[in-house]
Amino acid sequence: MSRHWQIEYDAEHAFLTLDVAGQSANVLSQEVLNEFNQCLGEIEAKPLKGVIIRSGKASGFIAGADVREFEKITDPAHATEVARLGQQVLARLAALPFPSVAVIHGFCLGGGLELALACTYRLVREDGNARLGLPEVRLGIHPGFAGSVRLPPLVGDLAALDLMLTGRALSARAARHLGLVDEIVPQRHWRAAAISWLKRGLKHRRAAWYRRLPGWKPLRPLIVRLFSARVRRKAHPDHYPAPWRILELWREHATEEREAQSLGELLVARTSRNLVHVFLLGEELKRLSKTQAHGIEQVHVIGAGVMGSDIAVWAVFKGFRVSLQDQHPEVLARAMKKAHGFFKAKLKDPRAVQEAMDRFTPDLAGDGLRRADLVIEAIVEKLEPKQELFRMVESKVRAQTLLATNTSSIPLEEIGQALKDPTRLVGLHFFNPVAKMQLVEIVRGTQTADAALERARAFTGAIERLALEVKSSPGFLVNRILMPYLVEAVKLVEEGVSPVTVDHAATEFGMPMGPIELADTVGLDICLSVAQELSGSLSLEVPAKLRELVGQGRFGRKSGNGFYQYDARGRRQIPSPDKTAADIPITERLILRLLNECIACLREGVVTDADAVDAGMVYGTGFAPFLGGPVSYIESLGETGISHSLYRLSQEYGPRFNPDPGWSQPELLARRLRARPPG
Ligand code: NAI
Repeated sequence: MSRHWQIEYDAEHAFLTLDVAGQSANVLSQEVLNEFNQCLGEIEAKPLKGVIIRSGKASGFIAGADVREFEKITDPAHATEVARLGQQVLARLAALPFPSVAVIHGFCLGGGLELALACTYRLVREDGNARLGLPEVRLGIHPGFAGSVRLPPLVGDLAALDLMLTGRALSARAARHLGLVDEIVPQRHWRAAAISWLKRGLKHRRAAWYRRLPGWKPLRPLIVRLFSARVRRKAHPDHYPAPWRILELWREHATEEREAQSLGELLVARTSRNLVHVFLLGEELKRLSKTQAHGIEQVHVIGAGVMGSDIAVWAVFKGFRVSLQDQHPEVLARAMKKAHGFFKAKLKDPRAVQEAMDRFTPDLAGDGLRRADLVIEAIVEKLEPKQELFRMVESKVRAQTLLATNTSSIPLEEIGQALKDPTRLVGLHFFNPVAKMQLVEIVRGTQTADAALERARAFTGAIERLALEVKSSPGFLVNRILMPYLVEAVKLVEEGVSPVTVDHAATEFGMPMGPIELADTVGLDICLSVAQELSGSLSLEVPAKLRELVGQGRFGRKSGNGFYQYDARGRRQIPSPDKTAADIPITERLILRLLNECIACLREGVVTDADAVDAGMVYGTGFAPFLGGPVSYIESLGETGISHSLYRLSQEYGPRFNPDPGWSQPELLARRLRARPPG
């Protein structure tokens, strides 16, 4: 008896339907694979003309392996064994005496795609918004169920490498174009189409010869060299070994056994464990935002500047009706134009673009307020205008309307003073650019009601952003932790270290961008105002260099120069790093200030558990994901060692390095959003 698979027969065919019990999406756990093996055992001896494999879930075919099981594996030999077992089951599928066809809709990722690759044919239903891909590299591993062996001959070597190295997912059409799937079929015809493909017998598709040519042995080293240059730009070999391993396996024309062994090594290594941790943290935040209903259909955004327009466009993109208000009609016109460009690029289909534009209304007079279920304020960062605006807003909206501010530094309590009912005011602190940065800080003021927080969290989940609850305190979580790190970077420049040397140290550590380039990108004027805002409460010294540059009108990328020079297209001119700073502990100074602030935030209860710091910094700033976030990094180094290093730096560089009192409170690191098995 199978818990997850259902077998039905007609006169000539078996139909295997996967509907994993207790989950909204199908994942290939050990149990699911074992049951699949039993199903294959049952059908393989029967005189059938073919087998059809499909999913019973609305969400899609199979979303991949069960990532939660990865964390429990700590021994490479065990991981290799798991891959081998999966390979054996799929080999059995591939060796059936009759043809097989996978009927795919929605997610068909990782192990799910590998299962489909072991079938003779693959069809995609045109209704299900299919996404096909091998995203393993994003978790620090590569395919383990023979995907790296079966994919290249099917779609050609370059396309296969591209899919495995980027982890990107393809639409049905793109997959059909590559030859990854055989046909796109209307939903109501899937059965007839599948049976008609099975009638063709055991014919395995192969990519055209010229697509397989790059796999010719003498060419492989050259192709690897070409791809290496591309990979190097994205993945430091010491930090992210998986893409390098993919290239190595391909160059060696590796067997399934080599794939399994390599997977075993990667799966238990630091990078993969940390990437899995970060991924599961994101999943946990998503789960938490699904526990309540938001009851929001109509959103009204006020302020159509950098942030307001992006927030509005994103909410429309995710299906909400949005009115956008600004005091200047030309700003609104610009926002509408930007929206149209964004929808065109993302949605492509002109009808979908039109539908999105129909959900979006420019609203100079603020008529949308009366209908709004949620109002998001994103006007200038000044208390009085914000208070005045909220007074007006409260007089127009309905009693159940949720009110939110995107302020990045003004305490919620102060904005709330303008309201008769401050319990429905929350902070929804988005990051710039909204379409790229997944995190939204949900700011809880002392008067904010739990129900308002829950709705804000649920709305954030509904627009597919990750909601992280933080206390209303200066800088909230992410900016506060980032600021000492940025200030230290500027101090290093003041001491004569070149900006590019400082940035190089940070990117070598694993940051996506160096702190000086980050400051230039955010805008030095904004950095200065946040630093000034935080300087009082956090005794943060604002570097004179920052004041000086802003005073000279050097605001960073947007003004063409800041710490760096930019050309007309905003590209940075990069001098090479100098060697004069060899005796300054640049990385240590930068990172330890950041880690010290993390502990201070935990001690002060800015967030209530340590995982939230990891989630906030990875999803809000891109903090080295292969390290799992700052708290995971602290744990890997040991708290005692770090506080000793801080003490040493404080002796040399001054009290800004004084270890936070929280270092001697181990319980701060103990509270976790999700339990993590030892590894
Ligand atoms: P911005 O200056 O680009 O846009 C503000 C817009 O609000 C302008 O278009 C202005 O015409 C409009 N406005 C001002 N007063 C108004 C009123 N009473 N009624 C209607 N419209 C009004 O500002 P930006 O950068 O978008 O920031 C907005 C808010 O978002 C601020 O609170 C800021 O702290 C916060 N924030 C900014 C981030 C950034 O990276 N720029 C990141 C996260 C939050």
